[in-house]
Amino acid sequence: MLKVENLNVRYGAVTAVKDVSLEVSEGEMVCLLGANGSGKTTTMLAIAGALKASGRVTFNGEDITSLSPERVLRKGIAMVPETREVFSDLTVRENLILGGFIHRRNRKKSHHDTEQMLDLFQVLRERQNQQSGTLSGGEQQQLVIARAMMSQPKLLLLDEPSLGLAPAIVHHIYDFINKLRSTGVTILLVEQNANMALKNAERAYVMALGKIAKKGAAAEIAASSDLEALYLGV
Ligand SMILES: Nc1ncnc2c1ncn2[C@@H]1O[C@H](COP(=O)(O)OP(=O)(O)OP(=O)(O)O)[C@@H](O)[C@H]1O
Ligand SMILES: [Mg+2]
Repeated sequence: MLKVENLNVRYGAVTAVKDVSLEVSEGEMVCLLGANGSGKTTTMLAIAGALKASGRVTFNGEDITSLSPERVLRKGIAMVPETREVFSDLTVRENLILGGFIHRRNRKKSHHDTEQMLDLFQVLRERQNQQSGTLSGGEQQQLVIARAMMSQPKLLLLDEPSLGLAPAIVHHIYDFINKLRSTGVTILLVEQNANMALKNAERAYVMALGKIAKKGAAAEIAASSDLEALYLGV
């Protein structure tokens, strides 16, 4: 479904992502692991069209390498950035409606999709009229993921959904993600929390210093002896 070939991304003189190649098949959840600064977010932003990159990104066989973020979204790839920003003055419901903006000309569809999302996630239903800025961190994370789903993506890019959340809430977020997967969406997940990601994903890539240092089945990566070393960058 998604194929990234020899991706290179530079910030000025510094190359943050070096010859990264990876693939995600339809229906999979694949995680991208690695230490702070190893290039995970940069890779994701380049796939989403938010950073200029060299190399090739294809989605269902179509070259999307130099498309704008909005064009990439319209092709069916939505991203949830690690910054977890809700429109805090707006209600949960209004946030969801904005997530469906690419279908904005169709009011009926917007209403239908919002209801469907609220049916799927009771926690959001209960708080649909609550101002989003007053939600807890875990609730906000669920809202931004649900909001991204409102564009009905085929592929969802999730950047560190468990960042800064208590362990019990992290479990809750993964239940939420697994429920989403049951709707058929394919997921590329960036995580610092390697244990949780490897427990839930099918395959993994580990980045170190901008490169793919290791790849394989999630169970295989979880059992590998050098995972810690890769995180420490040694
Ligand atoms: N806008 C920027 N300008 C210059 N350098 C940047 C910029 N954004 C990121 N970098 C650098 O690029 C490298 C990769 O950063 P990136 O954010 O992709 O890492 P990451 O793996 O997502 O890290 P983290 O786990 O901390 O989120 C880092 O060395 C970082 O300092
Ligand atoms: Mg990051």
